[in-house]
Amino acid sequence: MTKIAFDGVPVAGTINFGLGQPSADLLPVSLLQTASDDFYSKAAGLELNYGELQGDERFRETLGSFLGRTYGVPAHANSLLVTSGNSQAMDFVCERFTHPGDTILVEEPSYFLAFQIFRDHGLNIVGIPTDADGMDIDALEETLTRTTAAMVYTIPSFHNPGGQTLSARRRDRLLELSRQHDFIIVADEVYQLLYADQLPPPALGCRTCEGKVLSLGSFSKILAPGLRLGWIQTSADLMAVLLDSGQLNSGGSFNHLASHVVRHAIDMGLQEAHIGFLRTAYQVRLEAMDAALGKHLSNIARWRKPGGGYFFWLELPEMADCAEMRKRAGDFEVGFQPGEYFSNEEKLKNCLRLSFAHYREDEIKTGVRRLADLIATELGS
Ligand SMILES: Cc1ncc(COP(=O)(O)O)c(C=O)c1O
Repeated sequence: MTKIAFDGVPVAGTINFGLGQPSADLLPVSLLQTASDDFYSKAAGLELNYGELQGDERFRETLGSFLGRTYGVPAHANSLLVTSGNSQAMDFVCERFTHPGDTILVEEPSYFLAFQIFRDHGLNIVGIPTDADGMDIDALEETLTRTTAAMVYTIPSFHNPGGQTLSARRRDRLLELSRQHDFIIVADEVYQLLYADQLPPPALGCRTCEGKVLSLGSFSKILAPGLRLGWIQTSADLMAVLLDSGQLNSGGSFNHLASHVVRHAIDMGLQEAHIGFLRTAYQVRLEAMDAALGKHLSNIARWRKPGGGYFFWLELPEMADCAEMRKRAGDFEVGFQPGEYFSNEEKLKNCLRLSFAHYREDEIKTGVRRLADLIATELGS
């Protein structure tokens, strides 16, 4: 199995669409300074002690109202647990709810860095095909007739890497199957609020009483990845299992300090204003990438325009090997993530993922032109 690491550091001169992170100009330095100043000027001291196991109650109340305004359904503070982001939440959820050898069903393709987390817990990963409407629920249902699954991991809105969104009808059926087959849905809703112009169907976090749902949310994509702050929204039954953790019992809240700062940011209206700013910035970048792909690659690549999130998923002709191609991408000063990284079965070799989050419009145009030159050279077109 190929060892995959995310491309953390941009190389000067190279436009690396493999970077699934915001550019520096989208990271809210002064916003966090304002929120921190507000927090520290009002803090009495105890705020810097260990936090409640579930996370600071004031933060969870603020977060619950924030979700009411953004997801459309307010969340009760008791239904929320503070995490250090979705990666930690995935690891924690596996630790609390699975045993080595259990099966987890994931979309094919799926978020490449989740695979290692699932393997760390000795899970047997089985892929379920996807199409324009997200996970193929007929295929899921068929798999469930011969496989007992502990969990189904899904990225319902603006998928990484596929870009597509699970339709409302499929969300209903997924919940129905969770009830019938008694598996937990781990809904990674990290891109839910980053829609371009049309809202996705409601987050599965709004539907925790309709099945066994653990909805993972994160401030990484709506504020800053460096905060390492997120949440799990779930039912009382599943919350009790989460809370019965030795790690929580020893260390308290997973990220107490950041939760104070973000509470102040939300209460001051800064978080929602920032989401508005990000949505506009990302929409411009998304449109720029779609137009550049149309100009330079429409003869050889196929893609669906995403409705939000960070990513375009490109399909090249069958003979293309994008991992091989990437070895020579540096010569063209461009980068991307090869499709096979996102396949649990080392398939999808002719696909690649491009992120539009890290570069300005003009850089996106230049980068796509370079990518087209690379592809033309490699495929001799
Ligand atoms: C689908 C998905 N889940 C989780 C993460 C990581 O989230 P966090 O920074 O909250 O750990 C990412 C980041 O790219 C992602 O795309």
